[in-house]
Amino acid sequence: MAAKSKTDHRPVAPALLRWYDKHARVLPWRSRPGEHADPYAVWLSEIMLQQTTVATVGKYFRDFMQRWPTVEQLAAAPIDDVMKRWAGLGYYSRARNLHACAVMVAHDYNGQFPDDEAALQKLPGIGPYTAAAITAIAFGKRATVIDGNVDRVVTRLFAIEMPLPLSKPEIRAQAETLTPDKRAGDFAQAMMDLGATICTPKSPSCNRCPLTEVCDAYAQGIADTLPRRAPKKPRPVRHGACFFVTRPDGAVLLRKRVAKGLLGGMMEVPTTPWLDAAAEDYSEFAPLKAKWKKRMGLVEHTFTHFHLILTVFVGAAGAKEAAKAGGVWTAQDELAGEALPSLMRKVVALAMPDEGPLFSKQSKK
Ligand code: ADE
Repeated sequence: MAAKSKTDHRPVAPALLRWYDKHARVLPWRSRPGEHADPYAVWLSEIMLQQTTVATVGKYFRDFMQRWPTVEQLAAAPIDDVMKRWAGLGYYSRARNLHACAVMVAHDYNGQFPDDEAALQKLPGIGPYTAAAITAIAFGKRATVIDGNVDRVVTRLFAIEMPLPLSKPEIRAQAETLTPDKRAGDFAQAMMDLGATICTPKSPSCNRCPLTEVCDAYAQGIADTLPRRAPKKPRPVRHGACFFVTRPDGAVLLRKRVAKGLLGGMMEVPTTPWLDAAAEDYSEFAPLKAKWKKRMGLVEHTFTHFHLILTVFVGAAGAKEAAKAGGVWTAQDELAGEALPSLMRKVVALAMPDEGPLFSKQSKK
């Protein structure tokens, strides 16, 4: 592995830990510097924090901990309740895996999370990042935790000019050399905090950084140009339509999506398959016969691998027709409590523009 730097990076860990002792962010799942946290809380927060910001996770984390304070309680909860409380956080396979993992820890491990990376990685939803984070943060054992913030900090400390993601193996090799034997969990979180608050993607605040003396990118005046990135391929665009239908008592038709795949197991306003091109006519996919009216505007939502554009139709069904439809008729004032992903919340908002922010409690993603 290329290790061109002449800088002695051994002062990184002690300098960073001194900084962390003063400046650690206060976050609901954190213990104080030097203390170990509850493995259940660490695991729960780390699963929530995958692909979601610290600011969004806070209230979901508190809600889960209040509702299900132990792994056994979460394991005993109906999966549909877990999905409902997860709604809005996105990447719903995480919620299904979260529950499956809780069941496994409660039943196969007597409620105790294993404390090594290999065993942790055998549990549902726990990959190399989360296994390392739990090992270090919950158990204080040496493990190298690499997320997007750490990628950036390490790239700058070693002035790695190769673009991401090609540089990942080098970043890992260099990060391993930095991880201290003691306080590996605090060190990991200190790297994340430094990346989130000082060593930021744009305009890093090098004047406040505790590591400038050992930062190769700073020495070369190129910190704000790193990490470089290989150009991204444009996301494909998919198209479809949703059918928002009410019956005479005002209830709205929802369906549960199949368990596998994108938004699996979540509720939806009946939707067409998502197609590579917009269709002229979506009526063959309507869940029942009604006079459908196309709403002005479109719902757009970006997933990891594609961008989705949905047309929204609204209709009113008579009682007889409604009784024939497959799905769940849901009272309008109960919509907010359903396991509707953000995409579907946007659909409901477009379908019911006069209702105001029905979902104001939920994050807009
Ligand atoms: N992002 C993911 N895990 C985190 C943690 N423990 N602290 C701060 N940011 C994080």
